[in-house]
Amino acid sequence: MSYPYQIRSQEEYKAAYEKSIKDPEGFWASVASSFLWRKRWERVLEWNFEQPDVKWFKGAKLNITENCLDRHLGTLGNKPAIIWEPNDPEEHHRMITYRDLHHKVCQFANVLKNNGVKKGDRVCIYMGMVPELAIAVLACARIGAIHSVIFGGFSAQSIADRLKDAQALTVITCDGAYRGNKEIPLKSVIDDALVQCPFVNKVIVLTRTHTPVSMLKGRDVWWDDEIRKIETLGLNDCPAEEMDAEDPLFILYTSGSTGKPKGVVHTCGGYMVYTTYSFVNVFQYTPGDIHFCTADIGWITGHSYILYGPLGAGATTLMFEGVPTWPDAGRFWQIVDEYKVNILYTAPTAIRSLMGYGLGPVNAHNLGSLKVLGSVGEPINEEAWQWLNENIGKGKCPIVDTWWQTETGGIMISNMAGVTPAKPSYATLPLPGIDPILVDDAGKLIEGNDVSGNLCIRHPWPSIIRTTYGDHERCRTNYFATYPNLYFTGDGCYRDANGNYRITGRVDDVLNVSGHRIGTAEVENAINMHAGVIESAVVGYPHDIKGQGIYAYVVFANTHGNENLSRQDIMQTVSRIIGPIAKPDKIQFVSGLPKTRSGKIMRRILRKIAENEFEAIGDTSTLLDPLVVDDIIKHKI
Ligand code: WT7
Repeated sequence: MSYPYQIRSQEEYKAAYEKSIKDPEGFWASVASSFLWRKRWERVLEWNFEQPDVKWFKGAKLNITENCLDRHLGTLGNKPAIIWEPNDPEEHHRMITYRDLHHKVCQFANVLKNNGVKKGDRVCIYMGMVPELAIAVLACARIGAIHSVIFGGFSAQSIADRLKDAQALTVITCDGAYRGNKEIPLKSVIDDALVQCPFVNKVIVLTRTHTPVSMLKGRDVWWDDEIRKIETLGLNDCPAEEMDAEDPLFILYTSGSTGKPKGVVHTCGGYMVYTTYSFVNVFQYTPGDIHFCTADIGWITGHSYILYGPLGAGATTLMFEGVPTWPDAGRFWQIVDEYKVNILYTAPTAIRSLMGYGLGPVNAHNLGSLKVLGSVGEPINEEAWQWLNENIGKGKCPIVDTWWQTETGGIMISNMAGVTPAKPSYATLPLPGIDPILVDDAGKLIEGNDVSGNLCIRHPWPSIIRTTYGDHERCRTNYFATYPNLYFTGDGCYRDANGNYRITGRVDDVLNVSGHRIGTAEVENAINMHAGVIESAVVGYPHDIKGQGIYAYVVFANTHGNENLSRQDIMQTVSRIIGPIAKPDKIQFVSGLPKTRSGKIMRRILRKIAENEFEAIGDTSTLLDPLVVDDIIKHKI
């Protein structure tokens, strides 16, 4: 496989970038010609950001799985598509060739059909990081069903909310999942969620942990039994459904500044082109390389850079079920050594946590196969960058700092490994086709260099969010209404003297905890569900490992009892309502919250207190009750 659109030098980057801005349609038409289409597009792009209404490759017909699987069979049929490393290093790994993967996807696609799933239906997937998760995702895409993958750390309530929002009638899950020394009872969580979702009529359950489960007659079926039925029927092939370029491919829920997560919708054509294009260029993938992205498929990073991007490029993608610190903190390095990994794409939070274990676990393994390192999810601090560079890359692996979002579908701002220069803690330059700008709070364009502002994008790229599922207006107000005719990212950003971009973090009420997005309003809603809570306010504060920690100020009805127990109770409530990832790191019981006379909570003050920046609080005399602030500071934890 060769990639005619691969950029190989700084000059080529400059030329591609210029062409992409001057003639975006010509540029993307040329990239898209390297893909497999059943029918070519009538128009490359039609768009307006007012509604918004964006159509890439209008009229084109395709199936993304033909690009990710079928078209590689002739040349790469016997090459590994997926290498799967289990949680427990003692268990056998699995190598799945392109031919095997194609076969398994077809079989399971037939299972879905046999169970009544049709094009356009929503299918919820709640599984651990097993190869069958990849198979389930691709099988949905094969028949044109819209997948909605939910991360295994979300609670029954979060699943129920997502199932209802998407009106998903089918769920695919596992009996349980392994994560380090823990076993998570996925099917039992699904059972709790389904109490609220009587419309779900089919649950397909894969055996992974042999955790006992209860199977509901008529609704719940076993993955293996269903595959056997398909084998008996001799239904081995499954022709790919012909999809329109703008048919939805998947929904992925993400948090925003309101209480309710939104279902980000990506479509078939543009997403396929952009994820593969960015994968090849940012990581400078060379056929034969082993690519290891440590994310979970439950997040966009896993969708785009474990599955669709790499498979679109005919790459070998390594899928890891476990966690970085179990059985010991050398787990990543052992995997790199064992499979001779060439590209390692991970998150700053993982690096920072591994740094704490010293160099012992690193030096026990040979990391000589590594060529490229990547970072994603949050700003990477200089210390973590240097540690990665010296101890993992041994000073010879370019590090790509990739900035993007669930809504952008693929990497937007990043250096290209070994092609454009890196600068620690900078995402650096936009990819071809990406037109970032900075605006002030009034929406005025900030020109020139050495400036800061709100990061917006001026022109659509192929994998831009199309809508928020079931509520297009929400998509408009969230992303396209703050600044007219611009896509607003929600991030603050600095542009240095040379035009390099450095993301400084969210400017809205969204937290980034260990690279995961969590809305403060969502956490507050969950805290407020606790019977003893009168009111709460949640802010972020700098956390050594997680990047941001969650600080909750809670007005509690009864603090006479045991405060620690009450804290535990509140944590439990958040865990039950959202999931363990949203548990506050600190809970401070307060007598009241700082409010303006009109009743608005002054989060800025609460943030400063959580950050221990008491001098920066400023004038509090206009508050409803200024004494509340002194009291909060006095009892700060
Ligand atoms: C937010 C998006 C994109 C996949 C993972 C997270 C932050 C992401 C970087 C980076 C600085 C980053 C931004 C962004 N972010 N990558 N390289 N440098 N910040 O996806 O959950 O949609 O979160 O993550 O704040 O808006 P997500």
